[in-house]
Order: sequence, then structure tokens, then C-alpha cells
Amino acid sequence: MCGIIGYVGNKQANNILINGLLALEYRGYDSAGIATLENNEIKIMKDKGRVKNILDLDGYNELQGTYGIAHTRWATHGKPSQENSHPHMDNSNTFTVVHNGIIENYNELRSFLTDNGYTFYSQTDTEVIPNLIHYYFKNISKNTDINNTDKILEAVVKATNDLKGSYAIEVISPLMPDTIIVARKDSPLVIGTKSDENFIASDIPALLTYTKDFYLLDDNEFAVITKDSISFYNKDLENYTKEIKNIEWDASSAEKNGYEDFMLKEIFEQPNSVRETIGSRLKLNESCNFDDLQITSEYLKSINKIFIVACGTAMHAGLVGKILLEKLCKIPTEVDIASEFRYRDPIIDDKTLCIYVSQSGETADTIAALKLAKSKGAKTLAISNVIGSSITREADYTIYTHAGPEIAVASTKAYTSQVVLFAVLAIHFSELLGYDNADITINSDGQTIKLDNIKKDILDLPKKISMILEDTSLIKKFADEAYTQKDMFFLGRGVDQTVALEGSLKLKEISYIHSEAYASGELKHGPIALIENGIHVISILTDPSLAKKSISNIQEVITRGAKTMVITNQDLENTNFDYIYKIPETNPLISPILSVIPLQLLAYYISKNKGLDVDKPRNLAKSVTVE
Ligand code: M6R
Repeated sequence: MCGIIGYVGNKQANNILINGLLALEYRGYDSAGIATLENNEIKIMKDKGRVKNILDLDGYNELQGTYGIAHTRWATHGKPSQENSHPHMDNSNTFTVVHNGIIENYNELRSFLTDNGYTFYSQTDTEVIPNLIHYYFKNISKNTDINNTDKILEAVVKATNDLKGSYAIEVISPLMPDTIIVARKDSPLVIGTKSDENFIASDIPALLTYTKDFYLLDDNEFAVITKDSISFYNKDLENYTKEIKNIEWDASSAEKNGYEDFMLKEIFEQPNSVRETIGSRLKLNESCNFDDLQITSEYLKSINKIFIVACGTAMHAGLVGKILLEKLCKIPTEVDIASEFRYRDPIIDDKTLCIYVSQSGETADTIAALKLAKSKGAKTLAISNVIGSSITREADYTIYTHAGPEIAVASTKAYTSQVVLFAVLAIHFSELLGYDNADITINSDGQTIKLDNIKKDILDLPKKISMILEDTSLIKKFADEAYTQKDMFFLGRGVDQTVALEGSLKLKEISYIHSEAYASGELKHGPIALIENGIHVISILTDPSLAKKSISNIQEVITRGAKTMVITNQDLENTNFDYIYKIPETNPLISPILSVIPLQLLAYYISKNKGLDVDKPRNLAKSVTVE
């Protein structure tokens, strides 16, 4: 989705703005633009297409301004074009604005402004913002003799009061030299600070090369930023201070470190990211240590239902979370897609715990679904990867995955970290509920284990992920054969079905190959009609108690001409499968953390074979900040 960058300091702003936009490219966009201010004149360079196109625009190298604002646009209102690209100006060329989010009432505001003599040059919702600021500024100008910056701040507050929807905005004007005003509601915005220069961005990783000190702007907050000051205001124009957050991520973790793509780097980081997620929370022969989570055993005993709510890959992690929570804690758990949950009036009360999973912590639907549960009296727990992200500021409790920045649009290490965090959390809850010594049934054969067995299996995961990543040749071979396919199928039973969903999503989003994921047993209730000669079917088989059933389902597709690859930890010698990809054995409850890795690699290699942009697939955005 759209990205915002801003800079005010002593250096030439143009290259800093462009570098910031490049760091935000992964979010997805279709046009880009910057505005700098020098000698009381605003200079805007913008166009559809890639950020680097701006470097070739006439006059780019001559831009001398030491402050400015910049934007990547992911088209919502109006097609990608030069006139729809940000920054946008008001009719008098006094206020220049970039905006991330959606103004839902822009049609009404446009009519109002048109009636008041304003003209519009783009199809965007954003263009109402600079004109509204101008409208209010005119009136304030007439009535008071306060300085220009204060007047503009007041006009920005008044203008945002009229906006319905979401926004993160930056405003510059020749009337307030060397100053940027920012505001946010339901769209992310952070301010990075350093002596003699300040930075603005949609997310922290974009600024890590400059600073590790950040202010995280909250909803309905405003900031007036110069090179050596940052002043915060609320809607009543009351001034207050905010706490600086020091972010430990290093800049190199947001760079490719020799890998061809961020996605490949992030796949290969998984032994470490999973280790980081486990951290000091889990040790053998000790109770879990969640000192960052204040949920008590009394509270857990009082609830009778858990909802896990998320989107996309995070929702798939939630499907594994449900299995873990139900098996280990015996609390009925439902998983829902955030965009559905928020509008379906779910049955929630103070006996419901709602868990929200979001890598970015900025997904609009997930945040709205969290606010809904709070309003109905439920406690909310956020699982996020981004420190201080919006969701963590809304939730009653937060736990972080600590997977490090994930840049590729296709989520990989965030998923494995979310699943492992669910596993550790389920153990923690189980201990709080007094089930420390209970027998846990892990499969349909009734096989039972103790919590300590799962703990050991979790601690072994990083080593086992490394074993999978040591040799990727079989996956590459299958990808070389499969990349010309138009359709593919992913099958599995039980927990393997949740991995099938994730493998299918990964393939779709970066290879543009249509694929379906099904519970193997469901195949003959319809979808088997699509199985024909040569179609590629990938099956996941990690639960020994379901192996025979799954093998029968694979035979059914082979009989109808399918080419098969089976990802398994079982001994499947003497079968007629075309490819068998062996992964290390582990407890079926956490097997997705291993079985997903070949599927991530498969999607990656197929996308590369097709010559596609792996990290920035078409139409997709990393942070989906609009609903
Ligand atoms: O940041 P979030 O975890 O809330 O994002 C949720 C989905 O948008 C995300 O997982 C999406 O499905 C990924 N592109 C999948 O690879």
C-alpha cells in the first residue's frame, strides 16, 4: 500500500527521500513522487511507474532543498497516472500534501469545496486534503495574528476533523519554511530522530540506515517537525511530549545480504528467526517464561472461547494455533478472516479471548476486528512482528514474534515464527491452566505425549529447518518441470491441510499460477473433476495416523493422470509418487514449521523460472492498510 517518507535537516533532501521510497518499495505501489522546498518555491517531481524513474526527470539533480516529502502510491481512487500521483497541491499552490489511506467521504468534501470555488485536477480522494487545509487556513488567517506554523497546524486539525476514513499525511508550505506537519489516523506513520535532522516514514525499517530512535505517532496525533525539534499535539491543539522508542533491529537485516531476493533471504533466515521467537520463553524442564504477557491463570480459567482473527498467511498460522490451543488447553477455538469477522456480529463477551495475528501490525481489517472485540468486552491479544505497530497499541496484551524485518511481500519467516509462537503460547496457557502433567493426544490413533516432549521438539526446530535448507535441489527440479503449469493442487489432512492452504497462497501470489488447496478427503466431493492428465498435485503428509488415508487420496489423483510430489516425514518407499521430498520428523502439532519450507521454496523457484518480480508481485502490497 502507499508509502510515505519525509526529511528535514541540513542535507540535500532529494536523495534521502528517494532512498526512503526505495526502502518502502516492498509495500507495493504503482506511482511515486517527491516535493522539496527551496527559495520559497515548492518543486514537485512525480510520475506513474517505479521510484527510480524520478531520477531521470528533468531537474531532479538540481533539487537543492534540505527538506521535503515523498510518496509511493498504490492506486485506489483513479488509475496510476502523473496527475493522480502524490504530492498534491491546493489551488493556490500553498499547501503540498502526501497521503496514505482512504478518504471515504471525499465525494461530499469535493462537492463542498467545488461549491466554494475550488477546482480538482486528479481523480484522487487525496486532493481534497490540501484544499480543505487552504479553506480553513484562509479563515484562520483573517481572524488571528498567530504565526503561520500555528495557523497551518490549526487548519490541518480542522481539515482532518472533516475526514472520514484513514490517513497518514505530511504537509509542507512555503509559509512555514523548514517545517513538516504530520498527522495520522488508522494509517501508520513513524518519526525517526537524530541530532540536527528528523525523518518520517510509513515504517521503521525504511529509516534504519539513519537512526534507531523513533517516535510512533498515535491516531489523532499531530506533529510539527523541524530539523531540531518535534512537537506533538492532540486535536485540541494541546502540546505534550512523547517517549522515544529505541529499535534494536539493525539496518543490514533489512538489506539483501548477498541473496538475490528478500524472499530467498527470509526463507533462509528461518532457523534463526524461529530461534529468536522461542528466545528465552521456552526451556526444557522449566515452565514457560512470558514476562511480556500478563495473562493470569484466573483469567484463563474464566474464559470459554478463543477467537483467532487475521488475514492471509497470518490467518493460516492461526489455523495451526487453533489446533495447538484446543489440544493443549482444551479451550474451543475458532479462526476467522478479519474482513469477515468485523462485519458478522460475532458472539463475543468477557469470557472470550480474541487473538489477532499480524506481521505488520498495520492490517486495517485486523485492527478493526480487534477494536470490535474490545467494544464487546473481550480481552484482546496481539501477535505482531513490528514493535509499536498500530495493533500492539490497541490490544490489551501483545507478544512479539521477533522474526526481524520481513520485506518480501510474500510472508515466509513471519509465518513460521507465528506458528512457533502459538506453540509456545499454548504450552504457557496449558501450564497456567494446570495441565503440566496431562497426557496430550496428538493424533487420531490416540497417541499421547507430555508437554516436555513438545518442548523438546520445538527447541529442535531451528536445527531441522537448517537441514531442509541444506539441499533444495529436488524442489528446484520439480519447479523446473512445473513452472509452465496453469493450475496446481495442494492436498493434506488435519494440520497438513492448513499447510496446503499456505503453499497454495504462496504459489498464487508470486507465480500467478492458479492453485487450489483442499482437505484430501474433500476432493471427491467435487474438485476431483478438475484432475486431468499432467496436472501437478502436491500433497503434504506428516501425520502418521492419517498416512494411509492420504496415500489413498493421492492414488486417486495419480489414477487420473496427475504428477505428484509428496512432502513427508514418513517412510514412503515403493510408491508410485513422482517426487518424494523428505523432511525431518517432528510432532505433527508443529510439523507445519517444517513442511511449509519446501512449499515456500517451490513458489520462489517457480516465480524465478517465470522471470517474475519475486519480492514485489503484481497488485499486492506488504501492509494492507485499507480494507
Ligand atoms: O501484516 P499482516 O500479517 O497482517 O498481513 C496479512 C496478509 O496481508 C499477509 O499475510 C499476506 O497474505 C501475505 N502477502 C501472504 O504472503
